[in-house]
Amino acid sequence: MRLALLGCGTVGAEVVRLLHEQSADLAARIGAPLEIAGIAVRRIGRDRGELPVDPALFTTDALGLIKRDDVDVVVEVVGGIEPARSWLVEALRAGKSVVTANKALLAEDGGALHDAAVEGGGDLYYEASVAGAIPLLRPLRESLHGDRITQVTGIVNGTTNFILSAMHTTGAGFAEALEEATALGYAEADPTADVEGFDAAAKAAILASLAFHTRVGAADVHREGITEVTAADVASAKAMGCTIKLLCIAARSTDAQGQESVNVRVHPALIPLTHPLASVGDAFNAVFVEADAAGQLMFYGRGAGGAPTASAVLGDVVAVSRNRLAGVRSASESSYAALPVRPMGEALTRYHISLDVADRPGVLEAVAGVFARHEVSLATVRQGPAGGGNGDAVLVIVTHVAPDAALAATVDELRGLEIVRSVTSVLRVEGGF
Ligand code: NDP
Ligand code: HSE
Repeated sequence: MRLALLGCGTVGAEVVRLLHEQSADLAARIGAPLEIAGIAVRRIGRDRGELPVDPALFTTDALGLIKRDDVDVVVEVVGGIEPARSWLVEALRAGKSVVTANKALLAEDGGALHDAAVEGGGDLYYEASVAGAIPLLRPLRESLHGDRITQVTGIVNGTTNFILSAMHTTGAGFAEALEEATALGYAEADPTADVEGFDAAAKAAILASLAFHTRVGAADVHREGITEVTAADVASAKAMGCTIKLLCIAARSTDAQGQESVNVRVHPALIPLTHPLASVGDAFNAVFVEADAAGQLMFYGRGAGGAPTASAVLGDVVAVSRNRLAGVRSASESSYAALPVRPMGEALTRYHISLDVADRPGVLEAVAGVFARHEVSLATVRQGPAGGGNGDAVLVIVTHVAPDAALAATVDELRGLEIVRSVTSVLRVEGGF
């Protein structure tokens, strides 16, 4: 098996190392030796440390490498939409098998890759694209194909989980926790994709597509990041026996007419400390899958880093190589259900709302009236004195489940009340609190 490696950065270098260290075992598992035909990079002269590979294998001509007749499998660990999309479509159409860790591309235009794989007859595997080392996509794509998945709830971004876990443990604010994440090498120099939820949204789209046999793209995912989460939010969550996590949620539902649809979203949410996802700390990932027959399943492990991600890449390399030797390909993309994607406003959620209000008779009644007008039922209401000694009060309200649009309209109306000094925090609540 001859392999073209596109990219030799954090993940690619570990792929090279593991291929070298385990070459005999990999050959035995595949049934043929696995050799690197070439490595495409951006800068040939870059210092790559002590990589156990012939320097003559490096090239900047990725397309030329892909097109070589002696290449069977293309491994893409470059990232981004272009030129990765053109390379992989070219490789797949030419009948090569492709292994990629590129969640951004899969969420943006996974359909083009799947179509090209069918056209060329090769495999398209992407286990490393979601939750790094955790075997998750193969279970969704194969093991659970006899079942009906109803919901996937996950922590799929290590950087934001590190930040939120630090805020919970130390009481730090977002900026301070992000600084720590950067210093420890978890957050990238530009952390936007992580902290604004783009990375998790891409992963949510991939998970939803597999779980619900429906093409779901990044644009279908409602996305909110964690930049607005404050130390006060985290303290308030703690006081309720909860913590705040950036969740990716892909849920199936059926309306009164029996029409099924899905809703896919990424946002910070309060979850009770007793929920299995609450104990997922540091930069770890975990994904909770609920299915009709299987019940609840949880997948946990390292979602990022060179070696963990390379582990998933190599697992895919072994799988596609075996298929090629056997002259078969894995099942094509399963998107037959083509379920409609419901907008966020129709998703059923719960809110935790903190308000600074005037402390005088009738305030609670006026506030409760706004919720009632939008048919939102209250679960708990807590009142305490506001800081600053101005005689105001703090109201912390948790609602029952309601359509997200009704909850958002409630908050908008509250903001307009004379007795509401400010709406200090609005967070969704998940996980059976
Ligand atoms: P890096 O930035 O560390 O490495 C990218 C590599 O791609 C480098 O070797 C770079 O070359 C090469 N490259 C960039 N542009 C080009 C180009 N135009 N032509 C040829 N080569 C190019 O990325 P990572 O290893 O961190 O990530 C790779 C992929 O894996 C991404 O899709 C990412 O989302 C995904 N992933 C990463 C994880 C992680 O923990 N890092 C976890 C899960 C998935 P050069 O070395 O010369 O600069
Ligand atoms: N930036 C990502 C994270 C890398 O923090 O989880 C893994 O996809």
